[in-house]
Amino acid sequence: MDPRDSKIEAARAALGYVEDGMRLGIGTGSTAEEFVRLLAEKVEGGLSIKGVPTSERTARLCMDLGVPLFSLDEEPELDLTIDGADEVDHALRLIKGGGGALLREKIVAAASKRMIVIADASKLVDTLGAYALPIEINPFGMTSTRIAVEKAAAKLDLSGGFTIRPGNDGAYETDGGHHILDASFGRIPDPEALSAALHAIPGVVEHGLFINLASVAIIAGENGVETLTA
Ligand code: A5P
Repeated sequence: MDPRDSKIEAARAALGYVEDGMRLGIGTGSTAEEFVRLLAEKVEGGLSIKGVPTSERTARLCMDLGVPLFSLDEEPELDLTIDGADEVDHALRLIKGGGGALLREKIVAAASKRMIVIADASKLVDTLGAYALPIEINPFGMTSTRIAVEKAAAKLDLSGGFTIRPGNDGAYETDGGHHILDASFGRIPDPEALSAALHAIPGVVEHGLFINLASVAIIAGENGVETLTA
């Protein structure tokens, strides 16, 4: 099955969880965008929702397609967030941030009663970490922060390549004006320990490990649509 078809199938299944009147966090990335397109059709057909986008990119698509948008400050408590992921394990721990939106994605997911992840089957893994972990860092003292991240990872027996994500003109800049350090660990056997260690570093704004946030994962592939629950 074409990965795009799988993304559409996962997005279509997620639409079944959306109810009239919901305050809805709307994710970022190609899978979330398939969801936005299907959601827009429902909105055109009369569904009433209040959408809170997780990035400027998603906001632009929603505006183009007529999905009603609110800021998180206008709607600070959400019913449901639907978002993609770069990796999902069987405990529904995620790596996110490949699209650079991890900070807003995590804030929006944490403000939601429920988060549903939608993904094609290639994203489901036994152990997180083959996908480089995006770590959002403050531009001030980036080199010191990178060294601190490397040392914290080494204490957990994690090593690998650390790359400041390039943008069009210098380092990539997130919607919040930060940069991204992509950390290729290969395997992250203890995501909780790494999460805590990264949060202890002052220059780290946030990281792409999403733990205890998703309660449902909808995975679509050759074998149809599978729903995993935490
Ligand atoms: C955006 O920052 C990411 O967290 C995306 O949700 C993630 O990269 C998945 O994107 P795709 O659906 O494009 O694979």
